[in-house]
Amino acid sequence: MNEKNIIWKDRVYCGEISLDDVKSRVKLMGWIDAMRDHGHIIFIHLRDITGIVQIVIDSEENKELYESAVHLREEYIIEVKGKVRKRAKGTENPNIKTGEIEIVVDDIILHSNSKTLPFQISEKAMVYGEEFMGSPAHVDEDLRLQYRYLDLRRPSVQERFVKRHKINKIIRDYLDKQNFLELETPVLTRSTPEGARDYLVPSRIHQGKFYALPQSPQLFKQLFMMSGMERYFQIVKCYRDEDLRPNRQPEFTQLDLEASFIDEEFIYELIEGLLKKIFAIGGIKLKPPFRRMTYADAMNLYGSDAPDLRFGMTFKDATEILKNTGYTIFKRVIKNHGYVKGFCIKEKATDLTKNILQNEYAMKIVQTFGAKGMSWMRMVNGELESSIAQFFTQKELDDLKKLFEAEEDNVIVLVAETSLDLTNRILGRLRFHIANRLGIIPKNKFAAVWVTEFPMFELVDETVTPLHHPFTSPDRTDFNTSDINDLLSLKSRAYDIVVNGEELGGGSIRINNMSLQKKIFEALGLTQKEIEAKFGFFLKALEYGAPPHGGLALGLDRVVSMVLQTQSIRDVIPFPKNRSAVCPLTEAPSTVDDLQLQELNIGLSRDLQTGTSREAAGKQDTSSQKQIGLSDEDVKKVASLARLKLGDADLANIKKDLNKIIDYVGQLEELDTKNVKPMHHVLNVKNVWRDDVPTSKDNSKAIIENGPVTDNNYFKVPRILED
Ligand code: AMO
Repeated sequence: MNEKNIIWKDRVYCGEISLDDVKSRVKLMGWIDAMRDHGHIIFIHLRDITGIVQIVIDSEENKELYESAVHLREEYIIEVKGKVRKRAKGTENPNIKTGEIEIVVDDIILHSNSKTLPFQISEKAMVYGEEFMGSPAHVDEDLRLQYRYLDLRRPSVQERFVKRHKINKIIRDYLDKQNFLELETPVLTRSTPEGARDYLVPSRIHQGKFYALPQSPQLFKQLFMMSGMERYFQIVKCYRDEDLRPNRQPEFTQLDLEASFIDEEFIYELIEGLLKKIFAIGGIKLKPPFRRMTYADAMNLYGSDAPDLRFGMTFKDATEILKNTGYTIFKRVIKNHGYVKGFCIKEKATDLTKNILQNEYAMKIVQTFGAKGMSWMRMVNGELESSIAQFFTQKELDDLKKLFEAEEDNVIVLVAETSLDLTNRILGRLRFHIANRLGIIPKNKFAAVWVTEFPMFELVDETVTPLHHPFTSPDRTDFNTSDINDLLSLKSRAYDIVVNGEELGGGSIRINNMSLQKKIFEALGLTQKEIEAKFGFFLKALEYGAPPHGGLALGLDRVVSMVLQTQSIRDVIPFPKNRSAVCPLTEAPSTVDDLQLQELNIGLSRDLQTGTSREAAGKQDTSSQKQIGLSDEDVKKVASLARLKLGDADLANIKKDLNKIIDYVGQLEELDTKNVKPMHHVLNVKNVWRDDVPTSKDNSKAIIENGPVTDNNYFKVPRILED
């Protein structure tokens, strides 16, 4: 084949042409980023992965070419040949790297055209100083994700993924130098407990059985250590079906690693060196060694196990000072072995007016954090002032001043609760809320800290649950598995790496002894049978010997997002799920063919069935229909949400009516409405205003009669906790 005909031969990249190339002939390929027709001359911004260059089609030089070029549009893909020339003085565009030159083209091949775009992709004005119209970054995120392949064409978005690639390369080079092997682990596997729900994959061959997608490769990486691989790493997808939060994705990437014959110090040094290199990609300087803080200190001083150390406002305990106070609210809490804790706001404290402190924070905001209330004091003319100051003795006020190191105009906020953990957590959220509101969190500061000495277990819904995971070494082995207090007093050899209040990674030194591992499972309340069924294979491996080992996993999406300072981890994932765990591009998750379900021997419950599967199920099992409908309990729940108190007769009637409606809706689904045209509303609908009619006192009594708890002419509803 003639080499000249090979499309990619002699191609030059748009962003790589410079003044040095003036007078050379070049062949370029790319997308039309923007285009301007001046009637006899067309300017095009041609874009490829490296950047943008301006090309010129001049009718005076080539009339035929000009006439065909007028039909080009944004995002058409073209190949051009032409000569590089220096731009005329005053027409340079410093907004683009190649702004000093342009290409006068004499040949254009159209490779592909494009429909009109759903949103603008171009990010660069063609003329320097010209106002740039419409930033694509402000387009609705779901629309951008639906057309993610177009969104990914934007240079600023592409740049993020170029950097993410560089970060991956840094990781591989760094760990390779330290003798880590990049090893793969299975995706179709058994459940690994990491605290979330599993994504399950049904097996066709082994009907009724399921694989679980890994929440992390935890067990396999430990098995590698038992295999003598000594040092492992992997850039790996993990899957967790958990409640969605801003920096969580159902499918995310970890840098997972593990090493044998090491201790905590090895991991700290290794990760500090690595993060230093990774953050440098974003021009951020991290300075190892990082700070270290115990879990207890993090909670007591910052109210979070992921403390943000970019700003102060650390907590002080005022319980001792106020132990004999006459202020009833504090007195009651302290008498019940509770705590009065708070912090002092030094910066911009005058922005916190009395109205804001009292009517917003004390009356509303702290309640959403689970607090009963909040007290505040402001230092004015050397004295602490507040609506409650008169309830304190001068000594108490002086001691508070001293404890909080309060200076003129500073504000002290105090929270009193019976549980220390709750007091800390409320203050933690309050600290962050106030700091955000006052805008005192430095944007360009990066504060890294290792959080250590976590409790081994916590109580979740009265159940002993590991804080990290059950493969983490406890700090001692002589614990009694049936003594909850003993279990809760255990600390673990786990560590988290936290930057700016965000947990970027976590890990631990592991258990390498079979009987200790078994004892931990027992402490978690697993029976011998359950232990054998869930972890038998792992315990068996431990019986053949395991070296001392430990490791860590970095949440890579979080790391990259922080390094590139993006708003969300979705910005650094090529095809992320949206806030509802849906992929707007492919519309996953989706329904599947009935045949697929049949092959897996899986049936959907009747209210989830559609189309033919529903019909089939209806024919096969009419008894299941009997179970459809609301139970008494369901109706009671609905009634309590609607704040209705139901008598027995009401319950039966409402249940009958609701079930009738549900049944009717069920029948609607079976109607074939495919070819039915939408109808207009048959009624002539119009809005009318109705004047309010004042209610007489007697009447209002009847209205609230059904309220669960009534007070005067009101009925009470439970307080709602909002996050
Ligand atoms: P852990 O569960 O702490 O540890 O996870 C490690 C890190 O992964 C990130 N991460 C997430 N990122 C995005 N979306 C999510 N849903 C999500 N969940 C977790 C966090 C977190 O710090 N096997 C252990 C590690 C070990 O012990 O070595 C583990 O997975 O940044």
